[in-house]
Parts: sequence; structure tokens; C-alpha cells
Amino acid sequence: MEGKIKIALIGAGMFGADVHLRAYADLQCSGLAPQLGRIGLDHWGRDLAPVAFELAAVAARSESSAKRACDAFQQWTGHRPRPYSGAEPWMDVLRDGPDLDVVAVATPDHLHTPVILAALQRGAHVITEKPMCLSIHEADQIVELARGKSLIVAVDMHKRYDPDHLRIRDELKNRIGEPLYGVAYLEEPLEVSTSTFKWATHSDPFSYVGPHWVDLIWHYYRSKPVSLTAVGQKKRLARDGIQAYDAVQVRVDFANGMSIHFHNNWITPPDFEGLVNQGHEIVGTDGKVESDQQYRGLRFWHKDGGSRTVNTHFSRHTARPDGSKTCVGYGVDSLTAGLAAICRRKFFDIGRDELAALYPTAEDARLTVAIVHAAALVRDLNFKYTQSNLGAPVTARFGPDGITIIDPNRASEGSEKVFARIYEKAI
Ligand SMILES: NC(=O)c1ccc[n+]([C@@H]2O[C@H](COP(=O)([O-])OP(=O)(O)OC[C@H]3O[C@@H](n4cnc5c(N)ncnc54)[C@H](O)[C@@H]3O)[C@@H](O)[C@H]2O)c1
Repeated sequence: MEGKIKIALIGAGMFGADVHLRAYADLQCSGLAPQLGRIGLDHWGRDLAPVAFELAAVAARSESSAKRACDAFQQWTGHRPRPYSGAEPWMDVLRDGPDLDVVAVATPDHLHTPVILAALQRGAHVITEKPMCLSIHEADQIVELARGKSLIVAVDMHKRYDPDHLRIRDELKNRIGEPLYGVAYLEEPLEVSTSTFKWATHSDPFSYVGPHWVDLIWHYYRSKPVSLTAVGQKKRLARDGIQAYDAVQVRVDFANGMSIHFHNNWITPPDFEGLVNQGHEIVGTDGKVESDQQYRGLRFWHKDGGSRTVNTHFSRHTARPDGSKTCVGYGVDSLTAGLAAICRRKFFDIGRDELAALYPTAEDARLTVAIVHAAALVRDLNFKYTQSNLGAPVTARFGPDGITIIDPNRASEGSEKVFARIYEKAI
């Protein structure tokens, strides 16, 4: 079996131009087979080895970003994708590439949905950055269209593929008994919200990085949320005139009785030793698991460099004999999982449902989006109330009747205002 997968990358910033572009360069050079063993799909190595991959287009908001990414890709591979730029460059990409197989989406958080829907409408599979989208209604549109067209939407939830998390999922979570409570944190550098992202006010720390942990907890326990509460703070970024949350804390209660706290910020000063601070802990009836994802045992310091740690598991550039470099790590593994599913769909005509266990699906992401969506509403109300000394009493409930925001501060206006239904279907 031979064939080709043509990819277009939409969004070439910090993540698109780094992780996606590097991964697609390796695909262009060597195909998918070299990566498959990392995620337990080595038995498809021979089947998929002949499949060629081509990065046909790269789109960004500015022409210079798109061209820079295409230049880098050409340098790594000898092949130059076509650059596109503008406010909706994916429309031009899709018009010029009716035979595209995959659209990879690495645009800002609030700009995933229009790209995903346009790609699906034109029959392309999608690999999207997290969060898949920010609204549960948009998540439904994506799931419905993907199902209707039998297309794959794979979401880049790479924490599932961290070797430590695989060990927790496959073994340790069973040893610690029934989960009782836990905490998951991801604290991002100040630079991200103040200079890298031009879009910090359109997202928030929980919507941006909370999905990683929400999805991981779902992946471990497959238990749905029943309620949540959320609060946020606006002090540090306000100093720089940026009207965005510094930090958000969300507590989600799940159907299996566990309660998990998610803590996120994007104001960590540059003096911090790692790129980001991250980890999670879960206490069970018979034990506890602690996973420090930041300090993995490699720390160094030198004159004028401060004390630093690095996470070599996420991605590492491994030298080939000719001196060029290939990139491996769990940061690439989730892209591999989505692409493997897409290859199975295209070349072996395996059904979409049959492939669902292979990769983080749009249906999985819908649950995360439900939590992100409800948390944003609860957080904003609680923020408003704390400013007026009215506490932070707002919560959200998830049930067979949908999602309800519960606001006791509106008790005097009647029960319809206290119990506001924002979504009418079961999660
Ligand atoms: N999986 C992860 O660990 C991880 C890490 C970082 C970022 N991300 C996600 O990746 C996405 C991109 O983040 P980033 O860090 O690269 O952000 P960024 O701001 O560095 O880059 C955004 C990119 O999108 C492009 N863009 C903006 N508006 C556009 C438009 N209208 N049309 C086409 N392109 C447009 C910009 O030109 C830029 O290339 C976000 O959703 C973010 O949450 C994921």
C-alpha cells in the first residue's frame, strides 16, 4: 500500500512553528513509522512505512511569520510549503488545496472553531491544539460535523503520552484505590501573557492550559463532572494594562465522588528554574500518587545563568549520523496518534468509531470544553461578587438536564435567575 497524506498547518507561532512544524518535517523526511512504537502502534510500522507525508501549506496572521516557518521547513527538509497569511488564511488554503487530507490547527485559543469547521466542511481531517474550542455549543457543532462526515478530529492532549502518566494510568492509579481528591497545576511564564500572546485577553490561564489536566483526569478515570466552582484574580497583568486573569482556580467534583482542584497561572517570573511549573497529585483510599512534571531530576546552574531545570521528556532533538536532528518525545506522540488514526481511516477504511480508542477525540474534548465553558461563567460571576464583598458563591451543575449556573446572590429575583440553564443536553 502506498499513498500520501497532505497537511496544511494553520497558525505558526510559539507552538505551531515549534512542535507541529518540527513533527511534520520529520514526517516529510521519514514518514510515521519511526514514531509508532512510542505509542504502542509498532505493529502498524510496516503498513504505514510506505505512506508519504507532505506539508503543503503554512498559514499565519502575518506574512513574515508564515514565510519564516516555510523557510525553516525548507531548511530542514528541502521542501518548501506554500505560505499564506491574512485574517482568514485557512479559506485560501482550503480553496487552493481541495486534496488536503489534514488541517492542523495551532491558532489562538478563540480561533480554533472556524478553522476546524471549514476544514471538516471541505472533507479534511483535523489535528487541533487544545482547547478544541471555548464553547460547548461550538464543541457540539464540531462533533456533529465530524461524525456526519466520518472525519477524525484529533486533539493534541500530549499529557496522556507522558511516560509517567502512562505508568499512573496503567498501574499506579489501581494501586492507590478509589480516587478521593487531587490537585493539578500548570503555571506558565509571565512572558506568555505579556508578550508572546497578542490574545491573552481572549483566553485565561485555565482555558489555555487547564484542558491538559482536565483531559488527563478524564483519561485516567472516565468519570464525568457533576459540579464545579471557579475563582480568578486580576492583579499582576493589570499592572501592565492587560485586562486578563493572572490566575484561575477551578474545583471540579466528579460522578465517581472525587474532587480535583485545577490551579493555573501565566504570571510566573522569569527567575523560575523551569520553563513552566507543573504536576499533579491524587489521593486514593489506599495510597497517593505524586507526579512532578517540572523537576524530573535534571537541574544545572552556571555563572550568570541562574539555576535551571529542563524536561527532556516533552521533546528532544536527537542527532542523526549526518548531524541533522529528529524530534521525539511525548509532545510529538499525540500528533502521531491522531495521524495514525487518519492513516487507518484513509488507507484501510477503518470506521471512525472503531478508531476512537486510538487518540484524544473530539468527543473527549467536548467534556473538557464543557468544564472550560462553565468555569469561565462561574469565575466571572464570582470575580464580580468578590469585588463587591458578596463572596464567591456561584457554582455550576452538570446533569442529565444539561449545565446549570447556580447563583445564590440572585435569590431575591426568583429561582429562574438563581438556576440559569446555559446548555440543555446531558454532558
Ligand atoms: N499543546 C501544548 O502544550 C500547547 C502549548 C502552547 C500553545 N498551545 C496552543 O496552541 C495554540 C497556539 O498557541 P501559540 O503558543 O502558538 O500562540 P502564538 O500566539 O505564539 O501563535 C499563534 C499563531 O496563530 C496565528 N494566527 C493568529 N491569528 C490568526 C488568523 N486569524 N489566521 C491564521 N493564523 C492566525 C499567528 O500568526 C501565530 O502564528 C493555542 O491554542 C494554544 O493554547 C498548546
